[in-house]
Amino acid sequence: MSFVVAIDGPAAAGKGTISKAVAAHFGFAHLDTGLLYRAVGAKVIAGAEPIVAARALDPVDLENERLRTPAVAQAASEVAVIEEVRAALVAFQRSFAARADGAVLDGRDIGTVICPEADVKLFVTASAECRAERRFQELSDKGTDTTFETVLADVKQRDARDQSRAASPLIPADDAILLDTSDLTAAEAVAAAIKVVEAARS
Ligand code: CDP
Ligand code: CDP
Repeated sequence: MSFVVAIDGPAAAGKGTISKAVAAHFGFAHLDTGLLYRAVGAKVIAGAEPIVAARALDPVDLENERLRTPAVAQAASEVAVIEEVRAALVAFQRSFAARADGAVLDGRDIGTVICPEADVKLFVTASAECRAERRFQELSDKGTDTTFETVLADVKQRDARDQSRAASPLIPADDAILLDTSDLTAAEAVAAAIKVVEAARS
């Protein structure tokens, strides 16, 4: 029987890190749903119309390292407010969640809209400063020329847009377990998440 883990939260909270580790630990498949919106955003930067791009999205479009840039993240959050863009991406996400071997999906609306019946819902948070510091570190490691202040402003702007939109806003599901990772190492956050999933499985 399929088992679904929904992981939501703001930018750089640690969703991806936790999702990958939980998927590896339990042998589940993992879908980073942010990549869907990033892929649409990248197509819009290249001149496409958002709804057309979302409807034509191909899984191959997700395998692109260039989706990880701050400019694409901004474009992603801009297309993500459009109801029709979100609607075009629902079926792919739900069919991924239905995989028999179990699935972890991470994003903003997994526990609330995409998989409201998920077996485990985690809402991962951390202070904006913490999250910006992590993202700044990642970008610096990649050689991207930016400042902590720029990254913090970007993270705050995206959070505000994600939380205030009418279509599937970023908000914890009523039955989500909150995990604040501000004072946790990545390994500690992963261990806490695995514990929650283990408890739900037994
Ligand atoms: O997927 P999301 O944007 O929520 O975050 P991520 O890409 O998983 O994590 C952003 C960065 O924070 C990564 O470099 C992690 O190693 C680091 N980090 C973490 O994820 N969790 C902690 N408790 C501490 C650091
Ligand atoms: O890694 P990070 O948390 O910075 O961003 P992401 O998960 O790749 O998502 C990029 C943007 O896509 C977000 O700021 C949201 O606007 C949008 N998104 C969404 O609306 N719904 C999702 N399920 C996933 C992402």
